[in-house]
Amino acid sequence: MGFRQSSWVEPCIFELGYRGRKGHTLPTAEKSITTEFGELKAPRKIQRKSPLALPELSEVEVVRHFTRLSQMNYSVDLGLYPLGSCTMKYNPKINDKLANAPSLTRLHPYQNGETVQGILEILHTLGKWLAEITGMFEVSLQPAAGAQGEFLGALIMRAHHKFNGKHNDKKELLIPDSAHGTNPASGTMAGFKVLIVPSGSNGSINIEALKTVTSKRTAGLMLTNPNTLGFFEENIREITELIHEVDGLVYYDGANLNPILGKTRPGDMGFDVVHINIHKTFSTPHGGGGPGAGPIGVSERLEKFLPVPRIVYDGKQYVLSDQKPHSIGKIRSFYGNVAVLVRAYCYLLSLGAEGLIAAAEVSTLNANYLLKKLSELKWFDVPFGSERLRKHECVLSVKSLFREKGIRALDVSKRLLDEGIHAPTVYFPTIIEEALMIEPTESFEKEELDRFVDAMRRIAEEAESNPDKIRRAPHNTSIGRIDEAKASHPLTLVPSWRVFKSRS
Ligand SMILES: Cc1ncc(COP(=O)(O)O)c(C=O)c1O
Repeated sequence: MGFRQSSWVEPCIFELGYRGRKGHTLPTAEKSITTEFGELKAPRKIQRKSPLALPELSEVEVVRHFTRLSQMNYSVDLGLYPLGSCTMKYNPKINDKLANAPSLTRLHPYQNGETVQGILEILHTLGKWLAEITGMFEVSLQPAAGAQGEFLGALIMRAHHKFNGKHNDKKELLIPDSAHGTNPASGTMAGFKVLIVPSGSNGSINIEALKTVTSKRTAGLMLTNPNTLGFFEENIREITELIHEVDGLVYYDGANLNPILGKTRPGDMGFDVVHINIHKTFSTPHGGGGPGAGPIGVSERLEKFLPVPRIVYDGKQYVLSDQKPHSIGKIRSFYGNVAVLVRAYCYLLSLGAEGLIAAAEVSTLNANYLLKKLSELKWFDVPFGSERLRKHECVLSVKSLFREKGIRALDVSKRLLDEGIHAPTVYFPTIIEEALMIEPTESFEKEELDRFVDAMRRIAEEAESNPDKIRRAPHNTSIGRIDEAKASHPLTLVPSWRVFKSRS
């Protein structure tokens, strides 16, 4: 399958159109409009005095503009998206359709609870399902991302130690060196001193090193399982018991829950807090830090610290309860990112328990299939060997390719774009040199995985015949190689039209 991305010289929408051109004629705020709720008219004091500086275009111009832009983009609907750790599953369209039903989108969080029983039931049920899947006592749906779930979990750990009068002694949070960068950031933001625990030679946490740093100062351990190398942590019970023995709490970064769905549960392993990345596991959109959802589950002794309001069923109806004197408060407005949570509810409803187990198995199979196939190619080294079974993802290293041919992981990932494949995550986990982190999920069929392997094979061959072409990739995309440093530095990053104008 050949690939060449469309390339349009497409101006910004603010540069298009003419004053007075219209797409639709909407009622003005001064006139009243008839709705299903009766005649509505904006109060005079909130009526706009001067027109907004918005682009003025006809409908067809807007459609063409965004269609062209979409042709210069890549999405999970186009092909493989093997972004390790931050992966994208296919998002079934039915879930989008249901979440966009007017009966849900027209609700307002300030409505009286009696008039929103349907959505409260959906959220309450989803919380119960997630508690069941993770083996936790109670779940909060409030956090808007995995990282916010971590932060909430860390605040709850702090609240627990404070409740027990020990927060001055419990200042240290232990985090393995293979953890996602958000873990140490969340722990630090919650006021802990983060101590990094090294991985052992088998890719799992080094138990002896963990014992050395564990003390009465240990507030807790944040553990990602399966870890970012794709390994299910060995000695998990020994780890949780070790921390509990010093009155610490164990936090489960459940972003990688996908391969263990229906197989095992953090609660059964002895964990006190777990967060779930809804967008990674339950097939909802994910992008740029949101919109997402990162619910957390807690054990019974931590339930009193969960954010408010809680949705409670009183035997007759769902009610919102603020009655939690020990709650850490709110982490986000209202009940969380409802539109995303509804999609997760639909996904769970459509898969059912059997379907979830199948998703876990196929995602594991896909990751191991890719690892096996890629390990047979020259240049793609497999840290920790290919013998031990991976779960959801696998990590390769191109350090020998870099040393011998000057081709970096970044170059390989850019060349993959030329094949119409999204790049894997690169340079993470940081403990692997020139890392390529690959997470295929269960969304892709064998043919698509084979297309990826073939693309990697072509890159391996090209490394011998034309290495410079890889170093200058991509060539077939609408935008060529960008300066990675400039694209992410606050002084040179251009995140909006206003910033662009102010700098040009
Ligand atoms: C292991 C792990 N922990 C935490 C996170 C942070 O999640 P989010 O990107 O939703 O903040 C991720 C990202 O997907 C992750 O892979």
